Amino acid sequence: MFKVTIDGIPVEVEPGTSILNAARQIGGDIVPPAMCYYSKLEGSGGKCRTCLVQVSKGSEKDPRPMPKLVASCRTTVMDGMEVKNITSPEVIEARKGVVEMLLINHPLDCPVCDQAGECHLQDLGFEHGSAKTRYEFDRRKFERIDIGDKIQLHMTRCILCYRCVFTADQITDRRVHGILNRGDHSEISTYIQQAVDNDFSGNVIDVCPVGALTDKTFRFKNRVWFTKPVEAHRDCDHEKCNGKVTLWYKGEDVIRVTARKDVYGEVEEFICNTCRFDKKKTADWVIEGPRKVSNQSVISSNHYDTLKPLPVVKTNPLLQEANKDQFERETRL
Ligand code: SF4
Ligand code: SF4
Ligand code: FES
Repeated sequence: MFKVTIDGIPVEVEPGTSILNAARQIGGDIVPPAMCYYSKLEGSGGKCRTCLVQVSKGSEKDPRPMPKLVASCRTTVMDGMEVKNITSPEVIEARKGVVEMLLINHPLDCPVCDQAGECHLQDLGFEHGSAKTRYEFDRRKFERIDIGDKIQLHMTRCILCYRCVFTADQITDRRVHGILNRGDHSEISTYIQQAVDNDFSGNVIDVCPVGALTDKTFRFKNRVWFTKPVEAHRDCDHEKCNGKVTLWYKGEDVIRVTARKDVYGEVEEFICNTCRFDKKKTADWVIEGPRKVSNQSVISSNHYDTLKPLPVVKTNPLLQEANKDQFERETRL
C-alpha cells in the first residue's frame, strides 16, 4: 500500500489509485470537485480541470514537488506523496479560473433549469464564481434539440465533459451521438440529429453534471427542492437493470424516476428506460423509505421530519480570502 497525505490527512491506498480516489477514501471537504470524471465510466476525466490539486511532495524517493498543478482524477499516487487541495491558495485561485472558464458561455438559467439544486456547476459557481464576467463577446447560442422523445439537449449549458458520450458508448448497445468540431465550435450532437433510442439511453440524463441533457417527462414540472425523494425497487426483467431507483414525489404523484446517486452525484447503478420513463405509479414499486439527503443539500429544505442544526457554511479561510464579497454576504445571512 502507498501512504499519501492530502491536506495533512494521511491515507493508505492501493498503487495505481488516482489522487481523487485517494481523497474520496478520506471524504469530506478535502475531496476535489469533479465535473467530468465518473468512476463508473472507463476513460472519463481529464477534461474539465476542476479537480486540480498541488503536489507539494512527489514521493518518498523523489520528494521534489510537481512543477504545475495536476488533474487529480488523472494523476496516480506515489508512496509518500503529499497533496494540497483546500489548503493551497494556488489551487483555490486556479479553481476560480476554471469556474470562470466553464461559465464563459454558460447561460444564467438557474432559475428555470431542471438541474438547479443538484448541479455541481451551480455549487462551484457559488463557492468560487465571481459576480462579474470579463468576457466581452456574445455567448454561444444553440437551439434546443430533441434527442428522441424523452431527452432534450440544451447545448448552451453543456460543459463538454464527455460523460454522456462515454455512457452511450459503454452502457447502451450503440452510440449515435458524440462531440463534433473542435475548440469553441465543439458541440454535442447526434449525427444528423438521429434519436438515441435504446434501453439505457436515459442514463445520459443522470450522468450529465449540468442541465444540458434533461428528462422531457420531468421538464419544468417542479423545482427539485419541492419534491420528496424515496428509495424503491421493482423486479425489472431487463438483464442489465437491477430496478433500484429513487422516486421523486410531488404530493402523491411520482414526477421523476432516477438512478440512485452517491455523495459525489454518481449513479450507484445504471437503470433501464422502462424503470425511468414508464413506471410512474407508486403501485409499480416496492417502497423502501425516504432517501437520506445531506443536510447541506437544497433538496433537504422543506423536509421537517427532525430538527437538525443549520448547515455549516464552509469556512475554509482560503476560500473566504479568495471570495471576500460572497463570504461577507453569507455571514450576514
Ligand atoms: S446547468 Fe447548473 S449552473 Fe447551469 S443553469 Fe442549470 S443549474 Fe444553473
Ligand atoms: S451534454 Fe452533459 S454529459 Fe454530455 S458532454 Fe455536455 S455536460 Fe457533459
Ligand atoms: S474531474 Fe478531473 S479533469 Fe474533470
